[in-house]
Amino acid sequence: MKITVVGAGAVGATTADNIIRRELAEEVVLLDIKEGVAEGKSLDMYQTAALLGFNTLPVGSTNDYEKTKGSDVVVITSGLPRKPGMTREELIGVNADIVKSVTQNILKYSPKAILVIVSNPMDTMTYLAFREAGVPKKRIIGMGGALDSARFKTYLALEMGVTPNDINGMVIGGHGDTTMIPLTRLATYNGIPVSRFLSEDKLAKIAADTMVGGATLTKLIGTSAWYAPGAATAFIVESIVRNQKRIVPCSVYLNGEYGQKDIFMGVPVVIGRNGWEKIINLRLSEKEKAAFAKSAEAVRAMNAVLPA
Ligand code: NAI
Repeated sequence: MKITVVGAGAVGATTADNIIRRELAEEVVLLDIKEGVAEGKSLDMYQTAALLGFNTLPVGSTNDYEKTKGSDVVVITSGLPRKPGMTREELIGVNADIVKSVTQNILKYSPKAILVIVSNPMDTMTYLAFREAGVPKKRIIGMGGALDSARFKTYLALEMGVTPNDINGMVIGGHGDTTMIPLTRLATYNGIPVSRFLSEDKLAKIAADTMVGGATLTKLIGTSAWYAPGAATAFIVESIVRNQKRIVPCSVYLNGEYGQKDIFMGVPVVIGRNGWEKIINLRLSEKEKAAFAKSAEAVRAMNAVLPA
């Protein structure tokens, strides 16, 4: 198994670190346009092998796509991150050019790869990658819901004073501060609805905090977060390479599912060796359905800004 991570910045390097520690591949190629950065970070990571005991080889590359040849999975994190006060949507112009050229270069050397798109605005960048790649839809996966759901579970756990490991919960819809939909109605603590433990007001506050979870961190840190984004991306990659069939909300191509067509949005999918295998059709309430339709409108408006 060979995995490439494009973009050796905060999220890309953290993703690669998670992948090598878990030995998800024999080789992990980290590629960036910044001279020497991917090579340096790869060597730094490999120097942890003698301490941590893994057997995956990280390889750095400054824009040499030849090194990515024959990758089974490719993660795309290249692009600008948010600064405090910025929305993900403001990144569209610059990141569209980057994601477009990266997708073309990657497919030249790894025509069979499964692509996991992280760059923001993620739903639109995933749509763009799909358009450029011209590969079966099941091989294009946008990472957003895995992270937003982890944030949702964390806020629930903190409020309840329990471990996030005992919480189940999902965030669907677009991956934006106003477009994501934390499904409080379906969240559980060891199988018991969290509404048995938390008031409606508390749940509404947790949903609101989840939606601005990324912005809260950007304000605190001064730039966009990386630990949970890197772990969430590796979580998806792990389900692919180990064929775990995890159900993860991911941005995938909708063709009538959830009442939407020709759009990438976050919905629960089964992730396995061939990419996403199946969309899980949740029975949404009328309110949730309306929220999903509104979210789709915002994602569609963003897609419309993409250069032809
Ligand atoms: P960063 O600035 O630390 O790293 C981005 C890297 O991409 C830089 O090292 C840069 O040199 C590289 N890059 C730029 N153009 C490139 C090209 N053409 N080819 C190869 N590499 C190129 O940014 P960070 O924090 O790692 O974020 C990366 C992206 O991921 C941003 O767009 C950010 O908004 C997004 N993001 C998405 C999340 C999600 O849930 N989908 C979560 C967190 C971040």
